[in-house]
Amino acid sequence: MLKGKTALITGGARGIGAAITAALAAQGANVAVIYTGSQEKAEALCAQCAQDHGVQAQAYQCDVADFAAAKAVVAQVKKDFGAVDVLVNNAGITQDGLLAMMKEESFDRVLDVDLKGAFNFIRHCTPLFLRQKGGAIVNITSVSGMIGNPGQANYSAAKAGLIGLTKAVAKELAPKGITCNAVAPGFIATDMTRDLAGQDNALLAAIPLGRMGQPQEVAQAVAFLATAPYITGEVLRVDGGIAM
Ligand code: NAI
Repeated sequence: MLKGKTALITGGARGIGAAITAALAAQGANVAVIYTGSQEKAEALCAQCAQDHGVQAQAYQCDVADFAAAKAVVAQVKKDFGAVDVLVNNAGITQDGLLAMMKEESFDRVLDVDLKGAFNFIRHCTPLFLRQKGGAIVNITSVSGMIGNPGQANYSAAKAGLIGLTKAVAKELAPKGITCNAVAPGFIATDMTRDLAGQDNALLAAIPLGRMGQPQEVAQAVAFLATAPYITGEVLRVDGGIAM
């Protein structure tokens, strides 16, 4: 269903992002993978996608928080692929800490990457979507942005902001045939949650389905929303029921 389309995935080289890249390539999408540090991983994943699915796949280094760099990389992807049809804002970081001790820089950096990073890419892809008269945006938020999480005031604020951004963009761009949705993962087994994995703690016990999720389970939801023309402004939880 994505054959011949181009998907740009931020933070697409590892964790949930890598699963999203692979899932979209498996549906025939050409993939542009934005990474910060993991050049080798990004390039290996691109080679794998090209080999397994015969798609065009290329890696680009960019700090999503940098407005000008995001503009340049979107222009480069457009030049290399001819279009951007699907934008997945997946790049994200945590800098957890109790509010009473949280440093200003920790608040600012998490907001800059997790929220402004998504704005930057939406902002720069939208002119392309408008010219093409179509496009699909999927933002990776978190259940922390829906129900709050102690120790994550910065992250919860950024991810809640991303939900507001998703809905405003969905309303604004719907008349142009462009959809914008969000996926809200719960606890997914990646580097980000490494410290939680395997722990028999209250947090895991609170997940109704009784286990952490897998990156592929989030990727499945992203692929669905990227190809669902009549769904927009939705926030789809992939969380084993923790935030219901
Ligand atoms: P991860 O730490 O494995 O991957 C994060 C990705 O974002 C990496 O590829 C990293 O290079 C990239 N990234 C970070 N800062 C960047 C920047 N400034 N510019 C460009 N890329 C940057 O984490 P994971 O778990 O795969 O997370 C992916 C997304 O899913 C994040 O937005 C995260 O907040 C969200 N999420 C993860 C959950 C989990 O349980 N793992 C739960 C809820 C949401």
